[in-house]
Amino acid sequence: MSKKNSNNDLMDKIVSLCKRRGYVFPSSEIYGGLNSCWDYGPLGAELKRNLKNYWWDSMTNRREDIEGLDAAILMHPQVWHTSGHISEFNDPMVDCKTCKARFRADKLAEARCPKKPSKSPLECGGELTEPRQFNLMFKTFMGPVEDDTNVVYLRPETAQGIYVNFLNVKNSSRQKIPFGIAQIGKAFRNEITPGNFIFRTREFEQMEMQYFIHPSEDEKYFEYWRQERWKWYQSLGIDMDKMRWHKHGDDELAHYAKAAYDIEFEYPFGWQELEGIHNRTDFDLSRHMEATKKDLRYRDDRYQEKFIPYIIETSAGCDRTLLTLIVNGYDEVEVKGEKRVFLRLSPKIAPIKAAVFPLVKKDGMPEFAEKVYHELKKHFKVFYDVSGAIGRRYARMDEAGCPYCITVDGQTLEDETMTLRDRDSMEQKRMKVDEIITFLTKQITA
Ligand code: GAP
Repeated sequence: MSKKNSNNDLMDKIVSLCKRRGYVFPSSEIYGGLNSCWDYGPLGAELKRNLKNYWWDSMTNRREDIEGLDAAILMHPQVWHTSGHISEFNDPMVDCKTCKARFRADKLAEARCPKKPSKSPLECGGELTEPRQFNLMFKTFMGPVEDDTNVVYLRPETAQGIYVNFLNVKNSSRQKIPFGIAQIGKAFRNEITPGNFIFRTREFEQMEMQYFIHPSEDEKYFEYWRQERWKWYQSLGIDMDKMRWHKHGDDELAHYAKAAYDIEFEYPFGWQELEGIHNRTDFDLSRHMEATKKDLRYRDDRYQEKFIPYIIETSAGCDRTLLTLIVNGYDEVEVKGEKRVFLRLSPKIAPIKAAVFPLVKKDGMPEFAEKVYHELKKHFKVFYDVSGAIGRRYARMDEAGCPYCITVDGQTLEDETMTLRDRDSMEQKRMKVDEIITFLTKQITA
């Protein structure tokens, strides 16, 4: 099988696993779905929440220099004129005169012709129009009158909500430069060619942090945040051979950036951006200051003069990180002659931390196991399963990404110890319930 086909197969298997195990469903599926929109099911919602909490915790709670924010999606429309998104946030687009499909002019080689999916629009023989600029922002109307004066935009990045609150956060938190503001929230882009499952969608979530610094320290903090973000992915157990840096050339830099690096991951459909780290200079604050006439300059006793802070931004996609973790964790292994799927998610973000099983449905084992389950439930998201052979139960949890299975057996009734099986090493250790709580807490909060 060619690499391309096997990679397509892998993506199909991942989409199918996500549906089967309740991670991700097509949006409005009973109506035939809606292009590029996806819903997170019970395990997906839990995984996404854990991922966001892990990011939030490492960016805010475990630090002293970063504050959190949750700004509105709808903002004053002038914000987007000032930020340059109305004039600059465009992708070049071409139409195929033959099949009427629309493609990004700068991604034609990667795109597929809808009539001849084995070919790109450059190879299929269709005639393409000249490129035209297409603004990616979604528009809607505020209030009952749908005219130009009432247009508002769905934010295409969460960052602007942070910039317009710079003074509010600085004054209320009494933070001194260097300090950051972190935010997680939905962003919307009317992408010309969304696709690759939850990789590129029109509605997605970002986890962004803006770090405000003295302009003379921009290179130092740019480097610092590149290293921090790299380590963060490492801490989630991602195979770092599948991660690399991509430095933006002058032709790729966003309109606001002086320098930018992407952290890229090798997805089944190729190397693609996972997170961007940008040196946005004083571009955004200067523009907002000019537009609003509000003084956004910074001063404290350490500096002789007022200055507009520079900003180092770390911008990660939540859905894209979730896809990365699933692709990274997907594994097929032959166990006793049978092909088995494992989803090797880190205990830190796994939706279900442990499953509790009685070995058999008799001899008081279910009663003991239920007691253990209720005790563990006070601390973690756990799952109780009594149905089917023990091997089947293990297999179901392995595929669902659960890192540990706890089995109550005959010995439990004598000494209260249970086996705790590690999904990845398949090793089993005997522990009492208190030891299990200590062990799981350590694995999850490490
Ligand atoms: N504030 C800067 C900014 O938005 P970006 O590189 O355009 O920078 C940052 O986006 C991250 O947001 C990307 O690295 C990606 O993870 C995520 N992202 C962007 N567009 C996306 C889309 N259409 N679908 C899913 N995630 C997206």
